[in-house]
Amino acid sequence: MKQYIMEPGADAIRLVDAEVPKLGPKDVKVQLKAASLNYRDFLMRQYAKEAIVPFSDGAGVVVEVGAEVQDFQVGDRVLGLFFPNWIDGEITREIHGVARGGGSVDGMLSEFVLGHEQSFVAVPEHLDFAEAATLPCAGLTAWHALFEHARPAKKGDTILIQGTGGVSIFALQLAVAFGLKTIVLSSSDEKLARVKEMGATHTINYRDTPDWDQEVWELTGKRGVDLVVEVGGAGTFERSMKSVKYHGVISLIGVLTGTAAEVNPFMIVGKSLQVFGIYVGSKAMQHRFHAALEEHSLTPVVDSVFEFEDADSAYVHQKSGKHFGNVVVRGMDA
Ligand SMILES: NC(=O)c1ccc[n+]([C@@H]2O[C@H](COP(=O)([O-])OP(=O)(O)OC[C@H]3O[C@@H](n4cnc5c(N)ncnc54)[C@H](OP(=O)(O)O)[C@@H]3O)[C@@H](O)[C@H]2O)c1
Repeated sequence: MKQYIMEPGADAIRLVDAEVPKLGPKDVKVQLKAASLNYRDFLMRQYAKEAIVPFSDGAGVVVEVGAEVQDFQVGDRVLGLFFPNWIDGEITREIHGVARGGGSVDGMLSEFVLGHEQSFVAVPEHLDFAEAATLPCAGLTAWHALFEHARPAKKGDTILIQGTGGVSIFALQLAVAFGLKTIVLSSSDEKLARVKEMGATHTINYRDTPDWDQEVWELTGKRGVDLVVEVGGAGTFERSMKSVKYHGVISLIGVLTGTAAEVNPFMIVGKSLQVFGIYVGSKAMQHRFHAALEEHSLTPVVDSVFEFEDADSAYVHQKSGKHFGNVVVRGMDA
């Protein structure tokens, strides 16, 4: 079969011929129809120490099942879980150590993907493969950040969303569907016009307004937002603490501006904040997320779809920062 590999330090991913792994009794064999690119795939490109099959996210059709498989049959439409072993409950060191597209488990950018049946879930019926491919990492992370921790967002809350990438646009869609008010940051007025059309309450261009926390403060009547979907990381965390209300929530997700900074953690104490580290999510969360998508007829925003043979262009496009939502690669025979 055809499969991409990413080698440490290489400028581009490489298409190779690989053997199809042997099907175990509990395994399903999935023909990839679409895979979705995440910022995390750039991190893997930077930090992977050995060759890996890239892309944590993808969806396809079951073409073969092992003798003991119970949940799926040939022809089912499925997507792969980011954490194949995180079924329910809290994340553990063992669960964290096994993630798709990170070296421990092959990623999805392959003609066929094999794995234990527990590591797949059904594609929501109203979605096509490109849309479904965006759900395991970008989609589930946004869902978790809003609704799956101890202080979930509730109707009427105001949420601060940073940027217009995969996670953030999912957060906006979910927030609008669940009756939350939103303040969306972007470097582009054109993208801010699009988020307004999608139902964003307020928008701020963070390039034109580098002190955006002050604007958030004014927009919320000097109260602050209830929850921040924090994807910026080191460079935005301090402003997020300033933007959130007393006893508010920061869902800490990303590292777009890096991981290390001089941050005064005392504001967490001073404002009695709760900071939740969000790491994608479990299979149980994925099911609840899909139920919400179905109930609200939500369709993920696919920015662009690249052909399988041209998968490296997906990285080039996402790196340019021009994308809005999710960048997808079609499966080989899709
Ligand atoms: N913890 C987890 O489980 C988890 C899961 C998924 C993603 N992540 C992390 O979350 C982050 C976002 O991932 P993604 O895949 O959604 O990325 P992405 O699609 O590449 O989105 C990047 C977007 O973020 C915005 N951005 C960049 N710098 C910003 C800044 N200083 N302030 C505000 N917005 C900024 C830009 O939006 P504009 O073009 O509108 O300016 C950019 O287009 C990454 O750091 C990723 O590693 C973590």
